Amino acid sequence: MTTALVTGASAGIGLAFAHRLAHDGNDLVLVARDRARLDRLARELHAAHGVEVEVLVADLSDRAATWQVCDRLAEAERPIDLLVNNAGFGLRAKFLDNDLSNEEAGLDVMVRAVMLTCHAAGRAMRERGSGAIVNVSSVASFIANGTYSAEKAFVTVFSEALASELAGTGVTVTALCPGFTRTEFHDRARVQVSALPGWLWLEADAVVQQALTDVAAGKVISVPGAQWKVVTTAVRILPRPLVRGGPMRALDRFRRKG
Ligand SMILES: NC(=O)c1ccc[n+]([C@@H]2O[C@H](COP(=O)([O-])OP(=O)(O)OC[C@H]3O[C@@H](n4cnc5c(N)ncnc54)[C@H](OP(=O)(O)O)[C@@H]3O)[C@@H](O)[C@H]2O)c1
Repeated sequence: MTTALVTGASAGIGLAFAHRLAHDGNDLVLVARDRARLDRLARELHAAHGVEVEVLVADLSDRAATWQVCDRLAEAERPIDLLVNNAGFGLRAKFLDNDLSNEEAGLDVMVRAVMLTCHAAGRAMRERGSGAIVNVSSVASFIANGTYSAEKAFVTVFSEALASELAGTGVTVTALCPGFTRTEFHDRARVQVSALPGWLWLEADAVVQQALTDVAAGKVISVPGAQWKVVTTAVRILPRPLVRGGPMRALDRFRRKG
């Protein structure tokens, strides 16, 4: 039995990770801002699967709160075997039209917190000679859709670099790159996605299933769903001017909610 720490465990993909990992007999540390949701989930998972579940309330846009998560990851007596860096959100407007506070929070949650927690967990896992890190990135990391793409590009490339740095230590790092997944993400970002064709969508449980299969296989980049494997392969082959043009115009068709 192992212990997994999941950020953004109160909803969406993080919630699906929590359910699946508890079902498989892992103890959990659940991290997010919404204490009521985390407490309810902890009780539910303990009752259903008999696993131990800690709740660690933290706003990962806050540096001090992020350090508390890092401290928990570094604890030698209560080791964390799997870190799932999943917390994130969609930005509410294009860069020049957005509030800088929203932009900075995106950078803090999806870049700084990922880097700090990987530093803490990576050192502790390397010391023990075992462990796994999953950083939830996005197919957006392969295109150029605003600061969100830039932040997720950091997550993908950083994960690849850290995987190389940890090669041969017994610790693996996987960048999980989902496409559109049915969660609270788009409502929270007020993005209108009802016009998207159904075949593009992934379910959070399937994303997690593929992620854990790829972690077990030691894959560095995990792209769930055949449709998104085709898209990401094409995007990585096409000349960048084409990548900047087509997908960006397609995404712009999806109007933001008021
Ligand atoms: N859904 C998609 O289509 C999609 C596609 C590709 C990648 N992703 C990525 O998948 C990850 C999970 O997103 P999701 O789709 O599951 O979205 P979601 O349903 O909105 O869940 C987001 C989670 O992140 C947590 N979170 C947000 N801001 C936080 C903060 N400042 N501090 C701590 N926790 C915070 C939320 O918890 P609290 O509100 O309780 O803090 C929630 O648990 C994100 O990194 C996202 O970028 C999503």
